[in-house]
Amino acid sequence: MISIQNVNKWYGDFQVLTNCSTEVKKGEVVVVCGPSGSGKSTLIKCVNALEPFQQGDINVDGTSIADKKTNLPKLRSRVGMVFQHFELFPHLTITENLTIAQIKVLGRSKAEAEKKGLALLERVGLAAHAHKHPGQLSGGQQQRVAIARALAMDPVVMLFDEPTSALDPEMVNEVLDVMVQLAHEGMTMMCVTHEMGFARKVADRVIFMDAGQIVEDCPKEEFFGDINARSERAQQFLAKILQH
Ligand SMILES: Nc1ncnc2c1ncn2[C@@H]1O[C@H](COP(=O)(O)OP(=O)(O)OP(=O)(O)O)[C@@H](O)[C@H]1O
Ligand SMILES: [Mg+2]
Repeated sequence: MISIQNVNKWYGDFQVLTNCSTEVKKGEVVVVCGPSGSGKSTLIKCVNALEPFQQGDINVDGTSIADKKTNLPKLRSRVGMVFQHFELFPHLTITENLTIAQIKVLGRSKAEAEKKGLALLERVGLAAHAHKHPGQLSGGQQQRVAIARALAMDPVVMLFDEPTSALDPEMVNEVLDVMVQLAHEGMTMMCVTHEMGFARKVADRVIFMDAGQIVEDCPKEEFFGDINARSERAQQFLAKILQH
């Protein structure tokens, strides 16, 4: 579903991604972890064509991002993205947040978009909040709305960039529960997260990045199974985050 082939990207003289290659199959859940500044967000934004790259290619459901003929807005509309900060429109109600892109980008009628949006709101356990504005919801609730909003576009893949790292600890699980449910339903997911409990529960593979490179890319069982078999850099990283 996602194929990343030898992607290189520079910001000026600084190479932020070096020869990154990996694949995410349909229905697979891949967790991307690694130290701050290692290029995780940049890589995931390249998959959504939010960041350009100079070399290599990424294919999403058979569509090449590097191909100049590709309609990138159309491709983006099929890739759900959830960021650390929920980025809901503050001046719109939850229902409006859930329907605006369905109406404007996919051309759905208001009634159709509302039906879909409300069904998804129900699925993330927030049906009672449809009429509110984002500011009236907790961070965890807003993040669940952001997930519902992405799902309303019928994405072929969902990308997550540290969706729980800005949340108060007691709200992390309600968001992870929604993500676990999605994974179990067979959604193809690429998730930047340091929630190793989530990775252990639902990831098929774990990618570890360091200094712009994919240093490890292996099945979850292998990644967590024998820590001594991991690269030195991954061992240091895991030792730090698994303490908590
Ligand atoms: N717009 C930009 N211009 C120049 N350098 C950038 C830009 N965005 C990111 N970088 C640099 O690229 C590197 C990778 O950044 P990126 O945000 O992808 O890292 P990350 O792994 O997501 O880190 P974090 O865990 O802190 O979110 C960092 O060194 C960062 O400073
Ligand atoms: Mg990041």
